[in-house]
Amino acid sequence: MGVFKIKQGELINKWILEQGASFFQDIGMKKNQKVVDFGCGEGIYSILSGMVVGENGIVYAVDEQQKDLDIVVDKTKDMGLKNIKTVTKNEFKILANKVKDVDFILLFDVLHYFDKNKREELYGTFYQMLAKNGKLAIYPKHTKNNFPLWNLSDISNKDLQKEIENNHFFFRKIHKTIMIHDTELENGNIFVFEKG
Ligand SMILES: C[S@@+](CC[C@H](N)C(=O)[O-])C[C@H]1O[C@@H](n2cnc3c(N)ncnc32)[C@H](O)[C@@H]1O
Repeated sequence: MGVFKIKQGELINKWILEQGASFFQDIGMKKNQKVVDFGCGEGIYSILSGMVVGENGIVYAVDEQQKDLDIVVDKTKDMGLKNIKTVTKNEFKILANKVKDVDFILLFDVLHYFDKNKREELYGTFYQMLAKNGKLAIYPKHTKNNFPLWNLSDISNKDLQKEIENNHFFFRKIHKTIMIHDTELENGNIFVFEKG
């Protein structure tokens, strides 16, 4: 089954189908929940979340690039998933004002796009969108010791954790797991925060 056309093709498709959804369950994602995958790219994590939350849950797959959202639409159709809604950057502004009961917000490999002011603005937006005890799950990439890049190149994962705690979130745990980054499987750490 061709889920994603990525380099390690078969290996990654096998991982997606056999184990991919389990790490979301391991960090507490459940059936019927509402998820925002912010900066979803081609939507691999939106699709895995869609598999976990099921037909009565919903995943908002948000990206500024229409070409990525088009890929998400094609993939969800291929997989028969009806619970993933693609959202453009402009539509997200409307969504953020409307939806206040989100269970999970995913920020996977995306924070390096934003400077400190923008990151803090985003944390505020997410805080308002989350339900009480809703979770913010972050897969930090391109920090100081991890292929430093752009806005996170001088910031360690620990600094980033403190920054998010300073923005009213409670740090809950680091979940160590196998992840996909770009086209490869790798060992990853998901930082899980909660709105108190
Ligand atoms: C490196 S990709 C990560 C994709 C996906 N989360 C993953 O882990 O496979 C980062 C994505 O964030 C998106 N992005 C960057 N700035 C954004 C913004 N302001 N609003 C929405 N999406 C944004 C980019 O277009 C890109 O698709």
